[in-house]
Amino acid sequence: MMHYLSIQDIDSLAQWVKEAKALKESPKAFKKLGKGKTICLLFFNNSLRTRLSTQKAASNLGLEVMVMNFGSEGWALEYEDGSIMDQGTSEHIKEAAQVVAQFCDIVAIRAFASLSDKEKDEAELVINGFKKYATIPVVNMESSVGHPLQALADAITMAENKTKERPKVVLSWAPHPKALPHAVANSFTEMMLKQEADFVITHPKGYELNPEITKEAKIEYDQNKALENADFVYVKNWSSYADYGKVVNQDKNWMMTKEKLRNAKFMHCLPVRRNVIVEDAVLDSDQSLVIEQANNRTYAAQIVLKKILNSLGS
Ligand code: CP
Repeated sequence: MMHYLSIQDIDSLAQWVKEAKALKESPKAFKKLGKGKTICLLFFNNSLRTRLSTQKAASNLGLEVMVMNFGSEGWALEYEDGSIMDQGTSEHIKEAAQVVAQFCDIVAIRAFASLSDKEKDEAELVINGFKKYATIPVVNMESSVGHPLQALADAITMAENKTKERPKVVLSWAPHPKALPHAVANSFTEMMLKQEADFVITHPKGYELNPEITKEAKIEYDQNKALENADFVYVKNWSSYADYGKVVNQDKNWMMTKEKLRNAKFMHCLPVRRNVIVEDAVLDSDQSLVIEQANNRTYAAQIVLKKILNSLGS
């Protein structure tokens, strides 16, 4: 049985991107593949793109779709083994996951990081709980540490827009008034380390991502230097990893501007705060790929679901 929990579940990124691009050409070509099967989308957090694109991808493959806003409509779940449930939680993941699995063939889950307990966040209690007890394929629609559907869509978008075999790609931190998770930056980094590119991460000191994820990636603290000769600039805010979940610097000078971007293509996963993360002049220019990225979320989800359906057989 196949799960899609992280970018590391992709055996060949180039092949998956190629197959996703083919699905984009003929989205309904495998309409019979999901016939008689159901996917359940469970949202513990808000979404626009992930919800609509995953639903669209499932529909293109002939799957029935059930959607539940678990965070606001479901029972508060307990994850600890042997816990005495006399406090705030009403249902154990053991029962909840097995019950969900009775109603569907695949479950996709969005469950963000709390940013208050690094150990619990990294244990991925929701996703791993479903993986352990649901006994059906699990798809990560953004968890505490990763957003692999977004990163796959980003890989498709770069493949469609690159003009050289080894582009320079910069992941640049930007200021944000709230503490945001590391999931998008983590999966984007993991995805970039799987392909040919001159990849640079730039951020103020104190915003180093998990070194187990960045591995050999180049880190440049001088944003202007990092942006020199860039082909793609991916902008994203994240909170501190070392001082877990804290906003240690809100330096507005890190906002992306047209002047700093020069001739590079601009990327962001959305939603984006205009004139905080990036100025209007960038988003409203033809250098911005953000709408294409959002469109490619469908084909990223579709190639993942197609491979899972193939692994399930008829
Ligand atoms: N990029 C992304 O995952 O968008 P949503 O949070 O709207 O799903």
